Amino acid sequence: MEIIGILGAGAMGSGIAQVAASRGHQVVVCDNLTPALKKSGKNLLASLNTLVEKGKMQKEESEIIFGRIQYTDHMSDFRDCAVVIEAIVEDIELKRIAFKGIEAMVQPDAIIASNTSSLSISAMGAPLKHPERTLGIHFFNPAPLMRLVEIIPALQTEAPFVEQARTLIDSWGKTTVLAKDTPGFIVNRVARPYYGEALRILEEGIADASTIDWAMRELGGFKMGPFELMDFIGNDINYTVTETVFKSFYFDPRYKPSFTQKRLVNANYLGRKTCRGFYDYREGAVIPNPVKDKPLGQQIVTRVVAMLINEAADALYLNVANRDDIDMAMTQGVNYPKGLLAWADEIGIAKIVEQLDWLHAEYCDDRYRCCRLLRIMAREKRTFY
Ligand SMILES: NC(=O)c1ccc[n+]([C@@H]2O[C@H](COP(=O)([O-])OP(=O)(O)OC[C@H]3O[C@@H](n4cnc5c(N)ncnc54)[C@H](O)[C@@H]3O)[C@@H](O)[C@H]2O)c1
Repeated sequence: MEIIGILGAGAMGSGIAQVAASRGHQVVVCDNLTPALKKSGKNLLASLNTLVEKGKMQKEESEIIFGRIQYTDHMSDFRDCAVVIEAIVEDIELKRIAFKGIEAMVQPDAIIASNTSSLSISAMGAPLKHPERTLGIHFFNPAPLMRLVEIIPALQTEAPFVEQARTLIDSWGKTTVLAKDTPGFIVNRVARPYYGEALRILEEGIADASTIDWAMRELGGFKMGPFELMDFIGNDINYTVTETVFKSFYFDPRYKPSFTQKRLVNANYLGRKTCRGFYDYREGAVIPNPVKDKPLGQQIVTRVVAMLINEAADALYLNVANRDDIDMAMTQGVNYPKGLLAWADEIGIAKIVEQLDWLHAEYCDDRYRCCRLLRIMAREKRTFY
């Protein structure tokens, strides 16, 4: 079996290493900080022990899995790896340097991949002698639990490497989708309105956070409301992704970040991890009761879902991914109750267009412009499925 290399022993690198080792691969995990390597090993042992305690794995099996991982601070240990996945900090310059460092160690046909959430894979491949084997292999957090993996060919990538990577990740029990090298790929692009539109509704005073969360959960069918989800992800991380996508799209108003969320970050109200965010998680604090007003709740769901569908349709129109992959990415990557394009058919595309046109006219804001594909489909009475 191929040997897998992982650069960066943080949350993602450690999780990906666990997945690969559990599927029988020898894994080389490299980090430039010894404490990070120690922590990664300790966390993996703890998570394997939990599986043993729960009866989901035999002790011997957990020892074999742990034994497959080599922790190192020398990239030269990547020399026999068929695939190296970089999962260091989200910084394009550092990733480009890392890619060159990996290339100096591996064979010319070894795949060099990045787990980046938002940076350009083509830019990472550019300094390489053999950029045709560069790819994005984007896992979601936590990697051992989340099934979706986005595969992102760079401009320079040659097809056999894409196939090879896809086959490998599929063999790890993951669901792979193919995405174009564009900001946010599929999930981090299409999901932006879930947060952004909810924040607008809050800022306008239409409803408070717990009412919006209630509406999206109870009436929309989402597992978590947008505000509890932002608090869970961390407002710092969620804000940064939005800001990165906004800048990468040349300041398209559709992705405009929110001052409300920025102020929370400024105040260190990062969410659950600092015990304060949109909600107060300190001991004894009470989450405010939602206003369970169904017509208001439905109005909130209709607006947010229309914006999500608009984004999904735009991703399809601009060939970021195909219909099935877009719907799969949102149901498996972020647990949406339905694929957004299938949902559009269910609601009726003409109704979505009507909602978007109303918002556009009412707010005179380009943020609400309707995707051309939806307009054409409404006119021709077509459906996505
Ligand atoms: N955390 C998430 O939810 C998530 C989800 C999907 C993708 N990602 C992406 O995965 C990547 C890693 O994220 P993370 O959350 O695991 O980060 P992290 O901060 O937990 O870990 C990064 C690790 O990389 C190491 N590192 C930094 N520079 C290095 C270098 N030059 N050489 C070797 N090691 C180096 C650090 O010591 C650290 O251990 C990022 O690109 C991030 O955008 C993160």
